[in-house]
Amino acid sequence: MLDSLSKTAFAAFARSGTLKRLASRYGMRHGRGFARRFIAGETVDEAIAVAREIEGRGLTVTLDYLGESVSTAARAAEATRAYLAIIQQVAAAGISRNLSIKLTQLGLEVDRATSIDNVRRLLDAAAASGFFVRIDMERSTHTQETLDTFETLWSIGYREIGIVLQANLRRSAADTRRMNAIGARVRLVKGAYHEAAGVAFQLKPEVDAAFVDLARTLLTEGTAPAFATHDPVMIAAVQAHAAERGVAKDRFEFQLLYGIRRDIQAQLAAAGHLVRVYVPFGQQWFPYFMRRLGERPANVGFVVRNLIREER
Ligand code: FDA
Repeated sequence: MLDSLSKTAFAAFARSGTLKRLASRYGMRHGRGFARRFIAGETVDEAIAVAREIEGRGLTVTLDYLGESVSTAARAAEATRAYLAIIQQVAAAGISRNLSIKLTQLGLEVDRATSIDNVRRLLDAAAASGFFVRIDMERSTHTQETLDTFETLWSIGYREIGIVLQANLRRSAADTRRMNAIGARVRLVKGAYHEAAGVAFQLKPEVDAAFVDLARTLLTEGTAPAFATHDPVMIAAVQAHAAERGVAKDRFEFQLLYGIRRDIQAQLAAAGHLVRVYVPFGQQWFPYFMRRLGERPANVGFVVRNLIREER
């Protein structure tokens, strides 16, 4: 319950213009901004430098050019063009060719057909350079459209794409079966958005139990699933089930967010697991940042301490 309340509060803060202006002023200051713990930087060059450092530690990455909920076709086209340039820069840099994208950044809330056109432009350029592209899952009002878009792309023949399912949503057991049946690659997460009780489990034990159930199904019936969590209990449950069912370590991966539980990232890699770090970058970092605070209100203390240091 507390979990769900803090997600609601931080979702409301995320809409505050004043907070956003304050955060923009201090959050990404070069080298010391408090948001830099979670955001690799505002430019692709900064993200590439972070990715190189991570890959130097034996891990791999997925890059997310931040942005969501754009409200005009022009903004969606701009984001698409930005992604086309990013694909060139990442390919030239020689780091992992793996992107995570959000459909509302590419125009889903403007018009679904426009967003599909934009995604296809992006995917065509990505495929030409050997990229894998994961479509992140946003709030539950977009779940069906996101899955429909994914299946449309799949039916056209795009295969180097993946989807995300959220354990907190009641519908995810059925969605997991469907994605497994077509052979889609699923990233399983707990779910970052505050959702109503009608569509989502509200209590942590319920969400955790659902995560474990879905993880088991994905390990035995899924295609190259990714388990994206920092929760040691979830990670241990995945490891135990994989060992019990003889699923080799190269058949699935763990994913963690940049700036969170580096210790677990290192332990998993040392144990021979594939580990991918999600590296977000770009100027539109505020909503992503607020979700990270909402997941762990203790992070606010970290931000405040940082701000006090800034003012000294
Ligand atoms: P939980 O919240 O129970 O936290 C377990 C432990 O992890 C905490 O005790 C703490 O140690 C650490 N931790 C978790 N969050 C932290 C934070 N913000 N700061 C510091 N420590 C923290 N969601 C979504 O809805 N759609 C998506 O597409 C994605 N994509 C995605 C990709 C990747 C690679 C990851 C790791 C996560 C996502 N998520 C996501 C977010 C996900 O839904 C979830 O909100 C967070 O991962 C937090 O949940 P945990 O599984 O870590 O467990």
